[in-house]
Amino acid sequence: MTHVKVFDTTLRDGEQSAGVNLNKLEKIEIAKQLERFGVDIMEAGFPASSEGEFEAVRQIARTIKHVSVAGLARAVKSDIDTAWEALKDGVEPRLHIFLATSPIHMTYKLKKTPEEVLQTAVETVAYAKQKFHHIEWSAEDATRTDIDFLVKIVEAVIDAGATVINIPDTVGYTTPDEYGKLFRHLKENVPNIDKVTLSAHCHDDLGMAVANSIAAIENGATQVEGTINGIGERAGNASLEEIAVAMKIRQDVYPYTNGLNLKEIKRTSDMVSKLTGMMIPGNKAVVGRNAFAHESGIHQDGVLKEASTYEIITPEMVGVKSNSMVLGKHSGSHAFKEKVHELGYKFNDAKMKEAFMAFKQLTAKKKEVTDDDLFTILMETQVDSITIKKYQLEAFQVQYGSANLPTATVALTTPEGKRLEHAGTGQGSVEAIYNTLESLVHEEIHLEDYQLSSIGKGRDALAEVHVKMTVNGKETGGRGTAQDVLEASANAFLNAVNRVFVTQHVEEQSQAHV
Ligand code: KIV
Ligand code: ZN
Repeated sequence: MTHVKVFDTTLRDGEQSAGVNLNKLEKIEIAKQLERFGVDIMEAGFPASSEGEFEAVRQIARTIKHVSVAGLARAVKSDIDTAWEALKDGVEPRLHIFLATSPIHMTYKLKKTPEEVLQTAVETVAYAKQKFHHIEWSAEDATRTDIDFLVKIVEAVIDAGATVINIPDTVGYTTPDEYGKLFRHLKENVPNIDKVTLSAHCHDDLGMAVANSIAAIENGATQVEGTINGIGERAGNASLEEIAVAMKIRQDVYPYTNGLNLKEIKRTSDMVSKLTGMMIPGNKAVVGRNAFAHESGIHQDGVLKEASTYEIITPEMVGVKSNSMVLGKHSGSHAFKEKVHELGYKFNDAKMKEAFMAFKQLTAKKKEVTDDDLFTILMETQVDSITIKKYQLEAFQVQYGSANLPTATVALTTPEGKRLEHAGTGQGSVEAIYNTLESLVHEEIHLEDYQLSSIGKGRDALAEVHVKMTVNGKETGGRGTAQDVLEASANAFLNAVNRVFVTQHVEEQSQAHV
């Protein structure tokens, strides 16, 4: 059986999704989960794009011990140098360098002739080879590239030192048959192709990213790239969890192995969705809320008699557990700690105390604390930087009546520790809270998007709110969880505001260290 390596780019291509902006702690948290999921390579970011990005990639490279961490670079020496500085402490530093090769990109974007592009590609790979042993070279927009030019440039960059050749379908234009033939052609026509790993990287503009990726594997690719939940530029990238499960379920036609632990799919998917604020459509394959729901009577009857009648994937296979109560009001710190370890978290004493307090607060209101609830608490504790002072919601009250103008009174503490209180109105309760919070924080805020969902089922389920907004012209996003919808909304608003300050703080700190 052929082994296929999995290259995850959730933290780079996925993070390029519109409105997604992860901070360093969130990126590290996702990186650790990707390691548990068992990816072979994770692309942690684009180090030369900003100070914050550099710092995040550097921390991930230093934290992750069992996965090769990659960083993206344009075909320019300064990007390569910056990537090396960010990655050099990792267990297996890997450069991902890209250059466009299609006539459209070369003419309009790069304003270079094919000969100039070839020369730049060779020079920059040779330059990178002085530092990196593992170099992935990507022919951006490969699927709209002249095939003979692609063969020529791929051969040249392999000679210059590339160890992986990636053939991206950058604009999601290709079809399974066409993409498969492209890989076959490269296998048969690039003389030194056997020296490298061939990699597939597909976007989903025509909804064919997963099918295209699998077609590439059937035709010689031994590495596949993608993201969790398929997040990414425009319509997104190929969903890694879909590729993995398709290969598992249809092993009869896909005789390939990989190192993924499918039982980590649910948790990885949940974490990426929560931290990026990219909701998963209910009908999404493998990870959607309805992926295992059977609605019609005939289907329900069939599943009750024999699950395989309508269920080709079992929920257990991808880590979906029945949401039974795990801990309750009477659980003590010992049981809590054990559960924290069982869920894969390692906390220091301060974080453990913080998480336990959040858990206790929840049990005061919610009778049954499920795995999903606990996972949310632990993840939030992990990504919350207690060392940075932030706006904190102290208390709020809303007066709502269908015949009255909703009024909110809110008290908060500022990052400087001052307690402020104010009252304001709005057309609805959430708007009243948001208008009041805006006047309290004294920033110019525009709300772009607001989404509400529940964690788990039942009337007492936790509410989760994601917002996208601009704070003084800077795009930011926030999330808030609480049992009450209005409290979750207020938390999400303040979380978004705080993220702007945390990002500033991280940038100031890393500048101080330069
Ligand atoms: O889709 C693409 O072409 C990319 C490159 C940077 C590899 O993401
Ligand atoms: Zn891409």
